[in-house]
Amino acid sequence: MTPALLFILFLSMADVSMVSFLKWSFDIKLHFFPLIVLYGDIAEPKTSSRNADPCTAIGCKWPKSGRYVNVPYYISSDYSEYERNIILRGLQSFSLSTCIRLVPWKSGDRDYIYIESKDGCWSYLGRQNGGQYVSLAKNGCLYQSTVQHEVLHALGFNHEQVRSDRDTYVRILFENIEPGREFAFEKKQTNNLGTPYDFNSVMEYRNDAFSKNGKPTIVAKCNPYMKFGNAENMSANDILRINKLYECSE
Ligand SMILES: *[C@@H]1O[C@H](CO)[C@@H](O)[C@H](O)[C@H]1NC(C)=O
Ligand SMILES: [Zn+2]
Repeated sequence: MTPALLFILFLSMADVSMVSFLKWSFDIKLHFFPLIVLYGDIAEPKTSSRNADPCTAIGCKWPKSGRYVNVPYYISSDYSEYERNIILRGLQSFSLSTCIRLVPWKSGDRDYIYIESKDGCWSYLGRQNGGQYVSLAKNGCLYQSTVQHEVLHALGFNHEQVRSDRDTYVRILFENIEPGREFAFEKKQTNNLGTPYDFNSVMEYRNDAFSKNGKPTIVAKCNPYMKFGNAENMSANDILRINKLYECSE
């Protein structure tokens, strides 16, 4: 298990008036948008890793064995059965539409995800050697879309708004972003796998993510008033990307 999280990015997906409160409390029950309170944070690994991250071309994909890509998981015993079942449903959702199979960790599996309720919802980007945490805090992260989002990071996928082609689809309003959070909006040289920018992706931030003043931080060029970032389930494009990156049909 990698001990050092060099930094952890928090993103409150709260509505604007609640942002500063929810960042620390994560109590989604009080929230107007119950679906996603905090969203996806990428824990940077020791080695440099950068929709599919460049690391997927140099070894951070999970290996395929036969038709399937097995990703071993271990779920912390701290979760109640109810909480564990939410996580399990999220993990199992990958097998409905992709060749990814989240399988229980067994002795001898070197690489795996260890799901634990830590500080917020976050994941490493791509497969790490020797096991990696996925944090799903009990209060704020136990939603199908959040489980999917964090597993998608572990599979090697970035946030939608950092895609290499994002400037065609969105404007980032850096003047509205909380100081110190700008890095979460920096464009990356992603491999978009021939799929379009998708506002309905579970990897899309909310339009007011990390706002310091209640104004939008991400604006859709096709419709400046569009609200987005509340997907409850993987979109067709999320599924297509997995199937392409992991060559599910081959
Ligand atoms: C999520 O999407 C998948 C694939 O499109 C679908 O099979 C499944 O029923 C959806 N689940 C929920 C809870 O909406
Ligand atoms: Zn994320």
